[in-house]
Amino acid sequence: MVNTFMSIASSTSLPEFALEAYGLKKTYPGGKSAPVKEALKGVDLQIPRGSIFGLLGPNGAGKSTFINIFAGLVRKSEGQAKIWSVDIDIDPRRARAGIGVVPQELNMDVFFTPFETLELMAGFYGVPRAERRSEEILKAMGLEDKRNAYVRQLSGGMKRRLLVGKALVHNPPVLVLDEPTAGVDIELRRQLWGYVAELNRQGVTIVLTTHYLEEAQELCDQIAIINHGEVVACESKTELLRRLDTKTLVIDPVEPLDRAPAGFESQEAEIRPDGSLAITYKHGEASVAAMIEIYRASGARIADLRTEEPDLEDVFLALTRQADSGKARRNGVETGRRRDDSGDDCSFDPD
Ligand SMILES: Nc1ncnc2c1ncn2[C@@H]1O[C@H](COP(=O)(O)OP(=O)(O)O)[C@@H](O)[C@H]1O
Ligand SMILES: [Mg+2]
Repeated sequence: MVNTFMSIASSTSLPEFALEAYGLKKTYPGGKSAPVKEALKGVDLQIPRGSIFGLLGPNGAGKSTFINIFAGLVRKSEGQAKIWSVDIDIDPRRARAGIGVVPQELNMDVFFTPFETLELMAGFYGVPRAERRSEEILKAMGLEDKRNAYVRQLSGGMKRRLLVGKALVHNPPVLVLDEPTAGVDIELRRQLWGYVAELNRQGVTIVLTTHYLEEAQELCDQIAIINHGEVVACESKTELLRRLDTKTLVIDPVEPLDRAPAGFESQEAEIRPDGSLAITYKHGEASVAAMIEIYRASGARIADLRTEEPDLEDVFLALTRQADSGKARRNGVETGRRRDDSGDDCSFDPD
């Protein structure tokens, strides 16, 4: 099939990276109520062609800002961004032909049918009629029978599938999904991942942002962690998981402890503010039974005990602590925070 992707792909040799960012910065100007926000603080990130790449970070980390710069929805403040080797400043139209973005927010014109929505989008990208794939995309998204329904009549899950379809009309070599499963049911999630994996097998590079560690863990082969507008880690999933391969044994003592009992010197053991003893260990490198024995040998008694798996916040704390080693700074993780949506800096230039 001759299409935009093929023309962009055949005109240049296949690039090593699907997306590249060098010193990418974004500062949102402050408004009446919102202060100036440095959402990206100089991000260097190269996303290998052919990967399923996860951009993982808590709410407010800068994931959408990063993605939206590539999508042409947010104007960067500084730095360089390339899509399929094309600099977005030098040739924005060609750069944009290389990427399809499924935005975080469900934004669709509800007065069109799914078929019309796809055709309009294809027209927007200048895909000639003979090369449009609206029927094929509707089928792949399981929306064939909704072809002529109004978008406002679709369920949330169907709308999200249509958004994925919209991002694919120009057959881009890079598909970006911004928090695609937020508020999506399990069945749809499974379907969506099946389809995304199939696209990846066909050679499409997939970039996925998420604040769910498990999601990145399950799907991605490469993961970058972004926090407060900075990339704090970027490595293969296997490497990252090796870092996370820890558990914590938490012992509630009968009598409060002021420090870890003798015998835990070689382990990462700390007294928590509630007086419990928390011992973090690597899977397979320590046994809970042995730790309990050491604890008992100190003469302390156990009121209760449990184990904890690390969560995203722990990963962040660990990584940001490492990044600042020596500075004793603890970087908190923002959770549950929504963007303040002043929206005045968004530019959408259909080009
Ligand atoms: N249009 C905007 N105007 C002002 N601040 C914004 C805007 N969009 C995002 N921000 C702020 O920039 C930071 C990064 O936001 P965002 O990129 O949406 O993060 P994420 O997608 O990781 O949750 C947040 O503090 C958010 O409040
Ligand atoms: Mg976001």
